[in-house]
Amino acid sequence: MNILMAPLRGVTTSTYRKVYKSIFSGIDSAMAPFIPTGPETKVTNRLVKDVLPENNIDSYPIIPQIIGNRPEELPAFLNKLIELGLPEVNWNLGCPAPMVAKKKRGSGAIQHPELIESYVKVLDEHPGINYSIKIRAGFSDPSELYTLLPIFEKHNCSRLILHPRTGQQAYRGRADVDVFAEVSQRTTLPLVYNGDIFSMKLYSEIVPPIQEKISGIMLGRGILINPFLPELIQGKELSSNPNERIYELMKQLFAAYSAELFGENPVLGRMKELWSYLYYSYPEGQQNIKKILKCTSFTSYLREEEKLFETPFVPPVEYPDLEF
Ligand SMILES: Cc1cc2nc3c(=O)[nH]c(=O)nc-3n(C[C@H](O)[C@H](O)[C@H](O)COP(=O)(O)O)c2cc1C
Repeated sequence: MNILMAPLRGVTTSTYRKVYKSIFSGIDSAMAPFIPTGPETKVTNRLVKDVLPENNIDSYPIIPQIIGNRPEELPAFLNKLIELGLPEVNWNLGCPAPMVAKKKRGSGAIQHPELIESYVKVLDEHPGINYSIKIRAGFSDPSELYTLLPIFEKHNCSRLILHPRTGQQAYRGRADVDVFAEVSQRTTLPLVYNGDIFSMKLYSEIVPPIQEKISGIMLGRGILINPFLPELIQGKELSSNPNERIYELMKQLFAAYSAELFGENPVLGRMKELWSYLYYSYPEGQQNIKKILKCTSFTSYLREEEKLFETPFVPPVEYPDLEF
């Protein structure tokens, strides 16, 4: 199975991707978290830092993602990505955040087919880079996505990555695999499935019915809940001592963030976000993780983390009751 690492803003940055790849296998490529386009006519290295080839050495083939809705902002951006030699750019039509969607960006653009067509026309005009689209199952209803499919097909969109929840739904409820199957009936575009693959059991429920229709899957929160998941999907056995590798992941990320960020708070913020997902894989350590989430210093954090690693790693089988 071809597996893409999902863009998770503030989480799957170049640092995370590189460290994760040095410890776990199973991922083929990674989509970087979104970069908002703006009115600048010269796109600096600073703006695209996360996807610069020099920051992705020993890491995955990288697909930059942009978020925006002004076609006039595209040429400067695309030319920069072409100059960097990146073969694909992804347009974010999925972000559900109300502040974003209200501005007709992310999933908020889905209800505006004219806007979408004017945007993809400019993407077409840059044959030096392929483009794909990451999208939700409509903003308020899947029919809004069905309306867009002929537009994507008429233009040069290379593939769709579909997370079958609506924008309004945000992360509530469950990803709707039936809507995904319906889209696959309605389009000839290559499709990548994304959403709620958190365990091998969920993988084996979600993927077989659509296996013939997809060119790959994208994993986001599933990697954070169970970092072994891509390996398991690719047929490897769970390590005999999984805690050793989780410990290595967290130790290396802690060191890398400490070198990259200023002060204890931002480092603890990053680590706590990761622990809030690992929470579901440590049923006997959840009280420890709740303490980790409240730590305000490195000393207390490292003390609590050590205690946590005395408890066993038992990743969830069923859909976890996401609390955070
Ligand atoms: C913390 C967080 C940050 C995210 N950032 C992005 C982003 O930058 N771009 C994007 O297209 N999707 C983003 N997403 C959505 C994920 O890429 C993915 O579509 C979603 O989590 C569903 O997949 P999953 O169930 O495998 O996690 C984000 C999701 C989360 C939870």
